[in-house]
Amino acid sequence: MVEATTATPRPTVHASFDLGTDLVDLKGKVIIVTGGNKGIGFWTVKQLLQAKAGKVYLAARSEERANEAIKALHDEGLGKEGSGSEVVWLRFDLSDPREAKRAAEDFMKKEDRLDVLINNAGDMSSREVGKDGVSLMHIINYISPYVFTETLLPLLKKTAEAPDSDVRIVNVASKMYNIVPSGVRYSTAQDFNVPYTFRPFSNLHRYGNSKLAMILWSQRLQRLLQPSEALPNGITVISLHPGGVDTFTPRVKVFQGLAKSIVSLFALTPEAGAWTSLFAAASKRVREERERYQADGGVYLVEQPVPGTVQELGATAKDENLAEELIRTTQTFLKDIGA
Ligand SMILES: NC(=O)c1ccc[n+]([C@@H]2O[C@H](COP(=O)([O-])OP(=O)(O)OC[C@H]3O[C@@H](n4cnc5c(N)ncnc54)[C@H](OP(=O)(O)O)[C@@H]3O)[C@@H](O)[C@H]2O)c1
Repeated sequence: MVEATTATPRPTVHASFDLGTDLVDLKGKVIIVTGGNKGIGFWTVKQLLQAKAGKVYLAARSEERANEAIKALHDEGLGKEGSGSEVVWLRFDLSDPREAKRAAEDFMKKEDRLDVLINNAGDMSSREVGKDGVSLMHIINYISPYVFTETLLPLLKKTAEAPDSDVRIVNVASKMYNIVPSGVRYSTAQDFNVPYTFRPFSNLHRYGNSKLAMILWSQRLQRLLQPSEALPNGITVISLHPGGVDTFTPRVKVFQGLAKSIVSLFALTPEAGAWTSLFAAASKRVREERERYQADGGVYLVEQPVPGTVQELGATAKDENLAEELIRTTQTFLKDIGA
């Protein structure tokens, strides 16, 4: 017997993605890119400005590094005030959830709309437990982006009230979510601190665990932000893997020349590493097939064979009970620390 199904079809497969023709009109749109001062985030900001996005907030913790990035953009004739496509620094530090909340509150004092939020900033190297007793890597990669986004939600929802709205939240995760051994739990905040000491590449496992949390949260958020009377188009929430991107050699002198050429054989440039984020944030296809991108907890995108390709998640990343446990523990932790 063939079972009847009411499931919404997955998005159609696409064969190409061209920044010149496949982006929506970004005129007048307000966008935040976290970690916009370097790497994938910088190239996301740059290509949004090249596409004439109205105002792009480059969220970064260091004023000096933010100003350097903004100067580099200005030197290329991008993002100048009064040009109709402006880049602005937003002070933003993920290492403390209270600071992340403050950054969102500051933003809401400056703007009365937010069309796209790209949670790009991330950390692969921290090993220490933060002052609130939770792994700093989890704080930076999941808990602070969670609180930043939750604080901005009223503004995102207000923007999404317009009948022609196309509001999106993009969470830059990683395929390393898949490395996490089965049996993962989030029943208490201590579960964010699993050290994976007895595994090779323990830090990569901890990184993967933090990105798994980000992906579980993304799907839960998408289920809560479906179209309704108040939000005619809902809010589209997308998580993604940008590809293996060489954001390392550009800053290390010893990696110039031959070594850099070798790395480029198997890693994307930061420019190309931004394309899946740009697809998620601004492609026409996501707007045209919105219902499909928002169905069943939304989509997870990868860079291959084409930036923005939908990939099915592994079972742990789709576990709704685990997602519920994660959110409960996150909210309790945030309440306990007063964030
Ligand atoms: N590169 C890859 O192959 C790859 C693969 C999969 C996923 N990803 C994900 O893609 C995203 C971007 O990676 P990337 O390679 O472009 O990394 P990157 O070059 O190291 O840039 C990371 C960005 O995050 C910011 N950041 C780190 N900790 C922060 C904090 N506590 N508060 C505020 N900002 C903070 C950094 O700011 P500072 O300059 O101040 O440090 C920087 O702007 C990350 O989420 C990463 O996990 C990357």
